Amino acid sequence: MALRIGIIGLGFMGKFHFGVYQRIEGAKVVAICDVDEMKLRGDWSSIGGNIGDDGGQQQDLSGIRTYNRADRLFADGEVDVVDVTLPTHLHAEAAVSALRAGKHVICEKPMARTSAQARRMIHAASKASRRLFVAHCIRFWPHYAKARQVVMAGQYGKVISAVFTRLSGTPIWSYQNWLQNPGKSGLCALDMHIHDADFILYTFGKPDAVTSRGSGFRKGRLDHIVTTYEYRDNLLVTAEGGWDYAGEYPFSMSFRIAMKKAAIAFQGGELMLYPLGGQGRKVDVDDGDAYENELREFVQCIANGRDSEIAPACSAVRSVQLVEAEMNSALTGKKVKVSF
Ligand SMILES: NC(=O)c1ccc[n+]([C@@H]2O[C@H](COP(=O)([O-])OP(=O)(O)OC[C@H]3O[C@@H](n4cnc5c(N)ncnc54)[C@H](O)[C@@H]3O)[C@@H](O)[C@H]2O)c1
Repeated sequence: MALRIGIIGLGFMGKFHFGVYQRIEGAKVVAICDVDEMKLRGDWSSIGGNIGDDGGQQQDLSGIRTYNRADRLFADGEVDVVDVTLPTHLHAEAAVSALRAGKHVICEKPMARTSAQARRMIHAASKASRRLFVAHCIRFWPHYAKARQVVMAGQYGKVISAVFTRLSGTPIWSYQNWLQNPGKSGLCALDMHIHDADFILYTFGKPDAVTSRGSGFRKGRLDHIVTTYEYRDNLLVTAEGGWDYAGEYPFSMSFRIAMKKAAIAFQGGELMLYPLGGQGRKVDVDDGDAYENELREFVQCIANGRDSEIAPACSAVRSVQLVEAEMNSALTGKKVKVSF
């Protein structure tokens, strides 16, 4: 029988996940929950976002149970998995309540607003003997996954440097503008730049320290962050995340990784390899969509009673901790040791 999914938070990501589940065998969305009654009636015209659209403006929700309160969704005995696509500051409370109600949980990144909340989620999953997954989609993004595979294979030698960027126009679509509220979203560092911080941890391991600089629309805010991750062996890793671009500035993400005998770079949507002494060439990557890859992996993990080797929940706690160290560095102007 297909796993029965209940999605809570039908905004930009909830709508995305809703569309993706239609393409995943072994999963069926049976319930949705949102505080916005229009969305529960199928009118999704108010949903915005900064990457491609997945699904129509008017949804046919026949056969899907709709709830305007979280506790009613968690009490639904015919839901196996709760998919949390709520604003970040609400992740921990929703995930912990769903786990306590006996549901498995898939939660959008960042895992929670603070690493203390994220640890509570891990504890709740363990106590309830239920599975918990955090949707760090970049680990499943074909171009990033392929580049990591090339780096790990070691055929081009040691990594010398790596640079990641992630830039966007200022997000203006979110529910009651929660993305612009530092206490709710953690702003650009925790909401957007964490994609790269997580991939850096996944690929290069824990740095010894971070030095970050940031800028914001007002003092004490971080709408742009640039971090240098300090590793032994002179490995230089930096990442830049910024959403302080006005108007319709387009979303973009890219990276460049220099190894001893080749460079690999993702720019303009293509992965290119430049081997020493050879010609640059496009690298073929797996077909498929990162969101579909990640939700399929989590559904299969739940069905087979196993954890995800690609994205274990404990690694998502460390990503929040790493970004907390970066925010601390940016706001104090000091280098911060990374200890976890
Ligand atoms: N993986 C990615 O690429 C990616 C991209 C964007 C957002 N996200 C993450 O997804 C999460 C959601 O972001 P978003 O952009 O979809 O936000 P959003 O503002 O578009 O949507 C949030 C939804 O939650 C609903 N909601 C708010 N409070 C609620 C409550 N108490 N109970 C039920 N529903 C409630 C709102 O009505 C809205 O529909 C965030 O954690 C964000 O960081 C991930």
